[in-house]
Amino acid sequence: MSNMPKCWVVIPAAGIGERVGSSIPKQYLQIAGKTVLQHAISPFVGNGRIAGITVALHPEDTHFSTLEMNATTCDKIHSVIGGETRAHSVLNALDSIEAQLAKDDFVLVHDAARPCLSNNDLDLLIDACLTHEVGGIIGSRVADTIKHVENNNIVSTLDRENIWRAYTPQMFKFGLLQSAIQKAFKDNIYITDEASAIEYIGYQPCMIEGDARNIKVTTAEDISLAEIFLQEEKRK
Ligand code: C5P
Repeated sequence: MSNMPKCWVVIPAAGIGERVGSSIPKQYLQIAGKTVLQHAISPFVGNGRIAGITVALHPEDTHFSTLEMNATTCDKIHSVIGGETRAHSVLNALDSIEAQLAKDDFVLVHDAARPCLSNNDLDLLIDACLTHEVGGIIGSRVADTIKHVENNNIVSTLDRENIWRAYTPQMFKFGLLQSAIQKAFKDNIYITDEASAIEYIGYQPCMIEGDARNIKVTTAEDISLAEIFLQEEKRK
């Protein structure tokens, strides 16, 4: 039993979220009675398969320690200082937990700005990735027709059959993910999610179809939408 790989979580929460137009970072805005970050962490705190949660914070963060659910009040939660981009924050968190992990343990990376992850999608991802040779991510199919636009002119129409939105969590073996991000940095490749780093080193992660309500809060409209989704969830 003790040799079974464990699942760990990394939450990059070191962004300042300028596009939402608020004076406080978007992960600390209140929706449906809790901060966006608390909603984002909550499914992992309640999941018995998660061994620990590391939250990457901005060096000047003054909000995290005031949350009801923080590194002092919950044994599962730890914090680390994030970096200059999301990928730097993730790598800082991975480096900070390296000593306690086995290379074959799994890490699930989840954006602090995604407050609507369902317990069902989390379980779907863990079940699929525990047995997949690479690991994978939650995403959703694109319903709109997708255009490639340059200088406000349409250059082409992409085949939407093959286009998916990439969400989080994204789940990979710790050693593979850490070395993929390190390699991307070394080669000056800009990555916006973990799967891109894994793809860059030649692997094909699996895509698990999840609930399209697992949105990333980016603008003020997203806050209103997330609030509606969370209220719906509460009424179930
Ligand atoms: O800005 P964006 O929405 O892409 O950020 C995605 C996630 O990455 C957010 O949870 C944000 O707090 C986090 N992030 C980070 N470190 C940065 C920039 C963003 O942890 N330097």
